[in-house]
Amino acid sequence: MATVQMKVRAEDLSHVPQGSERIPEPGIMVIFGASGDLTKRKLLPALFHLKQSGLLPDKFSIVGVARRPLGDEFAADMRAGIVEYGGVEADDPKIDEFARHISYYALSFDDAAGYAGLKAELDRIDAEKSIGGDRLFYLATAPEYFAPIVENLGAQGMAQPERGRVGVVIEKPFGHDLDSARELNHQVNAVFHENQVFRIDHYLGKETVQNILVFRFANGIFEPIWNRNYIDHVQITAAETLGVEGRGPFYEKAGALRDVVQNHMMELLSFVAMEPPSSFESESVRREKVKVWRAIPPVPVNDAVRGQYGPGVVDGQKVIGYRDEERVNPESGTETFAAVRLGIENWRWAGVPFYLRAGKRLKKRATEISIQFKQPPLLIFNRMSMGGPCQEIQPNLLTIRIQPDEGIALRFGAKVPTTPNMSVCPVNMDFDYAAAFGKSSANGYERLLLDAMLGDQTLFAHRDGVETTWALYTPILEAWAAKNPEVFPNYFAGTWGPDCADRLLERGGHVWRNNLGR
Ligand code: BG6
Repeated sequence: MATVQMKVRAEDLSHVPQGSERIPEPGIMVIFGASGDLTKRKLLPALFHLKQSGLLPDKFSIVGVARRPLGDEFAADMRAGIVEYGGVEADDPKIDEFARHISYYALSFDDAAGYAGLKAELDRIDAEKSIGGDRLFYLATAPEYFAPIVENLGAQGMAQPERGRVGVVIEKPFGHDLDSARELNHQVNAVFHENQVFRIDHYLGKETVQNILVFRFANGIFEPIWNRNYIDHVQITAAETLGVEGRGPFYEKAGALRDVVQNHMMELLSFVAMEPPSSFESESVRREKVKVWRAIPPVPVNDAVRGQYGPGVVDGQKVIGYRDEERVNPESGTETFAAVRLGIENWRWAGVPFYLRAGKRLKKRATEISIQFKQPPLLIFNRMSMGGPCQEIQPNLLTIRIQPDEGIALRFGAKVPTTPNMSVCPVNMDFDYAAAFGKSSANGYERLLLDAMLGDQTLFAHRDGVETTWALYTPILEAWAAKNPEVFPNYFAGTWGPDCADRLLERGGHVWRNNLGR
């Protein structure tokens, strides 16, 4: 397809208010799982950048908690993380300045008695810096520790203190099926009130994900056509070129459906499909999301397909198959690719298929939503495409590129100039985030950490939402667990996944859009 790019430039940005972000009250952030990868790669670099942007209060303390007695080793490791993952020069004096806010406390997460010591330490820091009692507990540990940590915090009276505001941030995975998610919700809500709980999904921190709501609800022209009368189907793809990156034991128990589809992709779907909330406030937004998920009928097992990568070539490099990855069962039945077809039974979407697919070691890294519109009722023009043989006229397509080439494109037909007949060629109007606003260094964590500190739950999952999405996928997971896949691996690394994913769409007369990105 010949595609002509038309650039969309940002209007003058001088009117955009700078420094309008709120700054949280003085507080202590306690990170459980401080020696782990997440703290080093994401949390500390994000906190560092927030500090540099003037978005942390002066009276602010970070206490890392993990089992091993680390001391100076912890500080050195965190510095390395800020340099490597935060894109900061190693000799930047701001790192030293930031490091003064960080300390470390060694504690086994299941050592109930040890929490009294942690409480005393937090009280000491609080008094020394006149902080005022605000605390945010961040659970960045392995999921089996979420419940014991919460229980121990409760037992020491740390969840409902006499002064200050206290919250708890819980990383994914939030449960591994419906029952475990319910149980965890029960354990968490026995200690923390729901308005203290921040279940994090880092996709919601991405600018381009939040922009879906702005695109839909800050523009008047799209909403009238955003429904079954005009939209033919929707595809959401989260394609990765990476493999499991040393996370074999975790991934063996997870698989693509649990790891990415049940959470990140369902969040994307809810933003595309929800009704306009009455305000951009936590209650309204979260209520509309849950309404969408609840309108999805149970997914027939054959509307979900799975795959596992074998060896192949990704970005010109030979890579091994999943079963040969470190600490992975050589006969593993874990899926590294999953695709589903969903429907949403409400007035807006009845009859419109939503196709979701996620996979590792695919041909290209790209997370995209494409909304394909219906053809015009009558095609009166010559079915010619620029420079090529006769082709079907392409339907309008709206593509929301979440990453890495962040932007939005709208495909429409244009007359090919100087042709004697009315030949139509597809062209793209293309909005490129980086060209319009400059490249943003922010990963989703900066936004989400700040919101959690401010007590704003809009971009966090609610207990009902988590349970609703698990309810949808648990029967599929159970059916898959009961029957080992016959032919795994069923796709080569570096391709677009298994054939069964193509057949899933063919049944509805559709094909996956594989020319993702710009
Ligand atoms: C995580 C998954 O939640 O999301 C990973 O556990 C996955 O397996 C990652 O790679 C994808 O996130 P992003 O931001 O790189 O798209």
